[in-house]
Amino acid sequence: MLVALVDLNEEVGKASKDAFDKQFDAQRTIFVPCDVSDEEKLKDAFQKTVQHFGQLDIVVNNAGVNNEKNWEITVQINLISVIRGTYLGLEYMKNENGGSGGAIVNIASLAGLLPVAYQPVYSASKHGVIGFTRSIAMAATIGNYGVRVNAICPGFVNTPILQSIDKEENMGQYSAYKQNIKDMIKFYGIIDPSLIAEGLIRILEDDTLNGEVMKITNKQGIHFHEYNSLPFQSKQQ
Ligand SMILES: NC(=O)c1ccc[n+]([C@@H]2O[C@H](COP(=O)([O-])OP(=O)(O)OC[C@H]3O[C@@H](n4cnc5c(N)ncnc54)[C@H](O)[C@@H]3O)[C@@H](O)[C@H]2O)c1
Repeated sequence: MLVALVDLNEEVGKASKDAFDKQFDAQRTIFVPCDVSDEEKLKDAFQKTVQHFGQLDIVVNNAGVNNEKNWEITVQINLISVIRGTYLGLEYMKNENGGSGGAIVNIASLAGLLPVAYQPVYSASKHGVIGFTRSIAMAATIGNYGVRVNAICPGFVNTPILQSIDKEENMGQYSAYKQNIKDMIKFYGIIDPSLIAEGLIRILEDDTLNGEVMKITNKQGIHFHEYNSLPFQSKQQ
């Protein structure tokens, strides 16, 4: 496996590359600094990756923020950049463009399936990711793209994003409710990031999964959200 790590934060990106290099040959991983909300920079990151490794097979749209004060960036990073990352991934991987197929995994959240009183924009952005992922997965099947698109919805995970709950510059008018969120975290528990990696690998390895919404919780582990049925599709499509 060859990996391009893409992140705005150079320190985090280099530390991730160092961690990979301890386990794998250093040639297998590159770090590409990039603000995913910048259209040109994201396009460049894809181009650099394909130029470097010669091919693209998997895209994980993972970058995300929790910001209810400067809420527009939450929509920009969590939703618009995920849509753009998906379209760029399809451009390189889909059959009709000469690609050899692949898989795209969009990181949503349980907040994309439930209302969250103290993070309404974060919740909206993640609802958007799920709706987009399920819809584009249908388009991929109908259009025979050869690319599967799925979403992962974790509960609370032990990563730095949880620290944003304590910050007024992130929570804005919802700062007063930080204890309520902490109570929720205590109630539901915190998941180890390794379980998210396990879920991701399961999606990548199972070729039958497309348009699925994987939930990862402390109580139930890795499981899938069940929907009643898919909407009407014309046979002519
Ligand atoms: N930790 C949780 O409790 C939790 C729960 C559900 C979903 N998620 C989602 O998981 C994903 C990963 O988050 P995490 O928990 O690892 O948090 P994190 O804060 O540790 O990681 C997010 C990463 O995204 C990067 N990033 C932010 N804005 C960026 C931008 N504009 N361009 C490029 N990179 C950018 C950050 O530098 C950071 O490395 C996010 O989409 C998040 O919403 C997290």
